[in-house]
Amino acid sequence: MKKIALLSSGGDAPGMNACIRSVVRTAAYYGMEVDGIIHGYEGMIDNEFISLAPGDVAGIIHRGGTILKTARSERFRSRDGRDEAYANLRRNGVEGLIVIGGDGTFRGACDLMAECDIPVVGIPGTIDNDLEGTDFTIGYDTAINTVIEVVDKIRDTAESHNRLFIVEVMGKDAGLIALRSGIGAGAEAIMIPEISTDIVSVMERFEKGRRDKSSYIIIVAEGDSSGGAYSVAERIEHEYPGYDTRVSILGHVQRGGSPSCMDRVLASRLGMAAVEALLEGKGGVMAGIIHRDLVFTPLEKAVKHIREPNPHLIRVLEILST
Ligand code: F6P
Repeated sequence: MKKIALLSSGGDAPGMNACIRSVVRTAAYYGMEVDGIIHGYEGMIDNEFISLAPGDVAGIIHRGGTILKTARSERFRSRDGRDEAYANLRRNGVEGLIVIGGDGTFRGACDLMAECDIPVVGIPGTIDNDLEGTDFTIGYDTAINTVIEVVDKIRDTAESHNRLFIVEVMGKDAGLIALRSGIGAGAEAIMIPEISTDIVSVMERFEKGRRDKSSYIIIVAEGDSSGGAYSVAERIEHEYPGYDTRVSILGHVQRGGSPSCMDRVLASRLGMAAVEALLEGKGGVMAGIIHRDLVFTPLEKAVKHIREPNPHLIRVLEILST
């Protein structure tokens, strides 16, 4: 294999740049050329290929976002769009492809593997941590650290005013950001799509709980069946008027910022693993790390799974949040 291409796609995640650096430098180590594709699958269709040398990825390990840009491509969902993209891969002499992203990115890669003879290796890059085949996805650690930093600040004002804050975090299908940041920030409750939460029992717990508590934080995942932070607040204001409630939607701040050391190391390991996997003739798999070992999971399996929250984490939250 003499030349590979690399793209990032879907929602950006802190650590994607560290991963791009790793892929480019590992490929150079093995004497391969790398083309970066700008704007994910959109750029593949529009032939936005740029050559990346080791020097081009200097000074990016600490930067959030992705220097390759990213997109959610509608056109790649159609066969015509994909055929155009495959023609561009061939035109540019690409013999293997690495895609960094989440669910949607890997679905695109599955189509590509089925319709085109170029092997693809996926790298999990999403703040949601909602993929099978890896303990953690690139960006998750940074995102949960961002959440706890902000919730710590919200706690200061919540305590000063004796308020109940409902904080909405990202995760349209998964509550893993809410769960870990809920423990880390000492939240009084979390509401996540994987577990149905009865707001009445949460409020009863608050009513029966410690009398010395002057503030409450409920962290709600955006995909929770309650409908999100504003719906929860409306219900509490209506049924429990004694609480002074406020809503804070954290939004895209969770996707930005300099990646944590954990994300940089994970990205560096997985970038290297993906290049070596292509060299070993692997394709149609995602590189991940489970416990401390490198694991390759078929792309179709990586996307199919909505991960069950760890029951021990749920218990920790329940017992400590009283
Ligand atoms: O998939 C990652 C994610 O950050 C989700 O948690 C969130 O629902 C979504 O992306 C937001 O996407 P967009 O930036 O397109 O609004």
